[in-house]
Amino acid sequence: MPSPRPLNVGLVGGGRGAFIVHPHQRAIHFDGTRRVVAGALFPDPQIALEEAANWPYPIKGYGSYTEMIADQKNLPPEQRLDYILIVTPNHVHFDPAMKALEAGIPVFCEKPLTVTLEEAEQLVKKVREKNIPFGVAHTYLGHWTTRFSRYIVRAGLLGDIRWVDSYYLQGWLATKLEDTGQPQAAWRVDPKRAGGSGCGGDIGTHALMQLRYVTGLEITEVSANLEIFVKGRPIDDHFTAYCHLSNGGRALVRASQISIGHLNDLGIEVCGTKGTLVWRQEDPECVTIKLLGQPDRVYYRGAVTPGDGFLPSKEEIDKVMPGLMEEPTIPSGHPEAFHDAFARLHRCFEADVRKYQAGQPFKCDGTKYANVEDGWMGMAFIKTCLESSAQKGAWTPMPPKI
Ligand SMILES: NC(=O)c1ccc[n+]([C@@H]2O[C@H](COP(=O)([O-])OP(=O)(O)OC[C@H]3O[C@@H](n4cnc5c(N)ncnc54)[C@H](O)[C@@H]3O)[C@@H](O)[C@H]2O)c1
Repeated sequence: MPSPRPLNVGLVGGGRGAFIVHPHQRAIHFDGTRRVVAGALFPDPQIALEEAANWPYPIKGYGSYTEMIADQKNLPPEQRLDYILIVTPNHVHFDPAMKALEAGIPVFCEKPLTVTLEEAEQLVKKVREKNIPFGVAHTYLGHWTTRFSRYIVRAGLLGDIRWVDSYYLQGWLATKLEDTGQPQAAWRVDPKRAGGSGCGGDIGTHALMQLRYVTGLEITEVSANLEIFVKGRPIDDHFTAYCHLSNGGRALVRASQISIGHLNDLGIEVCGTKGTLVWRQEDPECVTIKLLGQPDRVYYRGAVTPGDGFLPSKEEIDKVMPGLMEEPTIPSGHPEAFHDAFARLHRCFEADVRKYQAGQPFKCDGTKYANVEDGWMGMAFIKTCLESSAQKGAWTPMPPKI
């Protein structure tokens, strides 16, 4: 049988010095089974076309994402977009996502999903109505070590979970960088473009997703403080949420953009009745397990041996997370990092898109990448934290799951 053609991906955003489009477009090309073929790269149509003409490899440029989506029906099937990738500021997630879903095109969207919970709810409803793949780019779920952490916690190897510290600390907004014209800073501190929470929406949602994915626990109520340290900034640059967990445990979900010395310091510590798991994205190739009265165990990706006295047999691992030990990776010691994590997310999304196109059942169930419900949960968390913070950190319940 001939190999299937690569999937065609269309970009929404990404022109003129944009950031996250590039890790994505590299990750899309990682396996040779996906490629970027088109883009609506900038809000101004003229510049959007120029940026597409100057793209490092040939792509079809469009003046707007509305044109790009509308054009699909005019193209022969093999030239149509198989999914779109949305890499615009937060306020330009909802509209292209909704237009693509209505046209039957799967969507991989950056986080936070939207700027309001109401928009997120509309997207969940549309995805369910259309039964179509939808992914949210919570990057760090794509590390093999995050998947391994999920296995360890969910298999009960740490006992009952008592306490989780999930954090994302940065220092890049410790001064008023937005006044210098730095493009990534400007929209992130503007509530109209970022949403009600700056730091919480931008990176607190990653910390939340890491907690939910690894532990399988949900947040039931929060006592949150959203704080502004840099004078004149209209939106939080420091975010702290003390949380009650669905199993009765406790968690801290925290984020900061004024913590000088921290770069992209996302990490998680999960403490159970038998031991603690520690993982940091700046050192993403290993997971440390601390058991009471024993030396630490450090597991490196690619060098994990089932049945080693802590881990059970491969057959037992497969019962909880089928395929974990066979996920495509490179040999240990050749480091995987940020781009590999993105590639793993796109690879898993591709599998669901191909099943969708073949009319087969696909999962899109949040086990391999965050889905639209996870995106909704991020927005529900932010809304609840904003409400709590407005009442000086009063305990505030999360809304029921959608
Ligand atoms: N998953 C991650 O690790 C991660 C990291 C960084 C950013 N992000 C998210 O990615 C998104 C983009 O962030 P960024 O830092 O790359 O921003 P950026 O400012 O660098 O890039 C945004 C791009 O969108 C374009 N754009 C804006 N409005 C548009 C429109 N109407 N039509 C077409 N293009 C338009 C801009 O011109 C620019 O090219 C944000 O939602 C952010 O939260 C995620």
